Amino acid sequence: MTLYGVELVVLESPEEAASAVADELAEAARKGLSIALTGGKTPGRAYELGAEREPDWSRTTLWWGDERCVPPDDERSNFGLARKTLLDRLAAQPREVRRIRGEAGAETAAAEYDRELEGASLDLVLLGIGPDGHTASLFPDQPPLEERERRAIPAEAKLEPCVERVTLTIPVLSSAPDVIFLVTGEGKADAVEQAFGRPPGLATPASLIRSATGRTRVIADAAAASGLT
Ligand code: 6PG
Repeated sequence: MTLYGVELVVLESPEEAASAVADELAEAARKGLSIALTGGKTPGRAYELGAEREPDWSRTTLWWGDERCVPPDDERSNFGLARKTLLDRLAAQPREVRRIRGEAGAETAAAEYDRELEGASLDLVLLGIGPDGHTASLFPDQPPLEERERRAIPAEAKLEPCVERVTLTIPVLSSAPDVIFLVTGEGKADAVEQAFGRPPGLATPASLIRSATGRTRVIADAAAASGLT
């Protein structure tokens, strides 16, 4: 099913959705792609399964779509989630792990990451969606949605965890030829319907991210997709 520029893939359960994303990650690792990971709670299982299905990530480069401005060992860290559920389970580490140094503070970390991203290209961007329709740390009706020059910028969280954030901007997140949203749970059904069942708008940042050069897929469980099907 194609809606407003995305291909909707609906699986019965969160486990099946995680498994489908794990297959995509394993394939991307085998190809040695540059992958931007997402944070939050949803992707953890997909990362675990991805590490099981392909333990050799030695040809990949990892980036993050956003980060909370906390130390990497803080339970709120998006890097920390990936380290626990993916990196620590791999037989061969990625060639490059480009984490956002959130602990340096939003302005410093964003400026540093913006420089790191210069000349870089992303092959696969994995994103989640908050119940308010945010994605990465792009929150509804906020100034970061207007940014078209910088690749990484500071952002103010409008949902827990309410800590300073660093986020990639819309042009960068849309630059990958392969964009995948992973979203599960009935709590996301409204956000999913607004993001993919209606014309794009600033009130729903996930509606503004579509691959500019390739395909955008939504891999969802039936509960999260219930507003669309
Ligand atoms: C973050 C994430 C964010 C996440 C959504 C969904 O730093 O919070 O990058 O965009 O994908 O908030 O989070 P859950 O998976 O926890 O629902």
